[in-house]
Amino acid sequence: MSTQRSLRIEPLGRTVPVEEGRTLLEAALAQGIKLRSSCRNGTCRECLARIVEGSVRYRVEWPGLSPDEKAEGCTLPCVALPQTDVVLLQPRLEVPG
Ligand code: FES
Repeated sequence: MSTQRSLRIEPLGRTVPVEEGRTLLEAALAQGIKLRSSCRNGTCRECLARIVEGSVRYRVEWPGLSPDEKAEGCTLPCVALPQTDVVLLQPRLEVPG
C-alpha cells in the first residue's frame, strides 16, 4: 500500500492528496490548482512558497534556497516531497482571469 499525504494550500483553502513520489506541485496540478512554476527542477524559484505546517524532503540535493530561507520555512514545491501532511502558503496562485 502506498503512503498518501495531504496538501492544504492556503489561502485558497483546498486540500489535495499527494501520492507517494509526487511533488507538492505535481499534486496540486493534478487537481487543477495552478501553482506557479517554470523550470520544475528547483532552480528558477518561480514556485517559491512557504510551509506553514509539516515537513518535506527534496528530489534534488540542493534546491535553490538559502539556509535562511529554509529556516523560515520556504520551499520549492516543484521538488518537494512531503514527509508528513503539509500546509503550504502560496498567495500567488495563477487564477484564470
Ligand atoms: S519551478 Fe523552478 S524552482 Fe520550482
